[in-house]
Amino acid sequence: MSAPPAPPRVSLACLPTPIVKLERLSARFGVEVFVKRDDLTGLLETGNKVRKLEFLVGEALAQGADTLITCGTLQSNCCRAVAAVAARLGLRSILALRGDRPQSYDGNLLLGKLLGAEAVYCTPEEFGQIEGVFARLTDEVRRRGGRPYVIPESGATELGALGYLECAHEISQQVRQGAPAFDTLVITAFSGGSQAGLLMGKQLAGLSAEIVGIPIARPAGDVQRYVETTIRTAAARFGLRVEPPKTIHLLDGYQGLGRGTIRKEELATVVQLAREEGILLDPVYTGKAFLGFLDHLARDSKQFGSRVCFIHTGGVFSLFPFRDSLSRLLDGDPLVES
Ligand SMILES: Cc1ncc(COP(=O)(O)O)c(C=O)c1O
Repeated sequence: MSAPPAPPRVSLACLPTPIVKLERLSARFGVEVFVKRDDLTGLLETGNKVRKLEFLVGEALAQGADTLITCGTLQSNCCRAVAAVAARLGLRSILALRGDRPQSYDGNLLLGKLLGAEAVYCTPEEFGQIEGVFARLTDEVRRRGGRPYVIPESGATELGALGYLECAHEISQQVRQGAPAFDTLVITAFSGGSQAGLLMGKQLAGLSAEIVGIPIARPAGDVQRYVETTIRTAAARFGLRVEPPKTIHLLDGYQGLGRGTIRKEELATVVQLAREEGILLDPVYTGKAFLGFLDHLARDSKQFGSRVCFIHTGGVFSLFPFRDSLSRLLDGDPLVES
């Protein structure tokens, strides 16, 4: 039986993203710590989502879609990235958002609106039945003569995961060109789709690095199941010779209070990395994951081997809605002159 045709891909991200060494952190822990700057995949398209969107929007365009519909929280990175890509390609975008319309727009929502996305605000109950919301929105688009394409929350499908399969190929190429052969790659996990992509890419690109995910919202068991299912589904749908590994490495316990509420230690991690290395994390995703990463390095600095790379999946715009808590933290900080 012949292999299914390669899924269409549209080039959207600025690739390859650089890999940089964190000098002071490396000296502190006595291991080489690197960051792969997927926060630099674009200005408005920045972060991990645009890698997924290269495939999802590739399929949308192949189907003749003219309207992208997706969903997320008010500060969803995925929604902002979809709005940015839609604007770039001359498509419409509709964002189904969990929450009420705020008095003024901020962070990712401000950018989504600025980019021309239509926002539809959903109650938690409506958002819990998101398939119903998608059905209503797609019907409306069709009634107006449009052609909708739905992107599930976080671009979390086996097609979206191919973005990180390609990222593994990119890393493997960077290693061939002189980047260090990492013992471990660490990535933030919400759905686990990006981790699933890396795990598939590890098998196909012959990467030796262990892939470690840090769940920042969902229970580790849910992330693990999602990773396994995504790899199996992708293998079947795209004819890939990949299978879920026996062990899916997840560092559990850093979900904190979920995606809406941020704890002081998570914000403090954002401040610490900004000052120590000049790199901005976001408080909702990468800040939490980096807290978990540092925590594990502090317990046993060799547990990730001698060369470890944290994949920075972006999200910087959601820093701004936390300006009040951040200002309080900065004002109480002895490093800040009054
Ligand atoms: C900044 C950032 N990092 C990481 C993730 C996690 O992506 P995934 O759903 O593929 O695990 C997300 C997704 O919501 C994100 O916005």
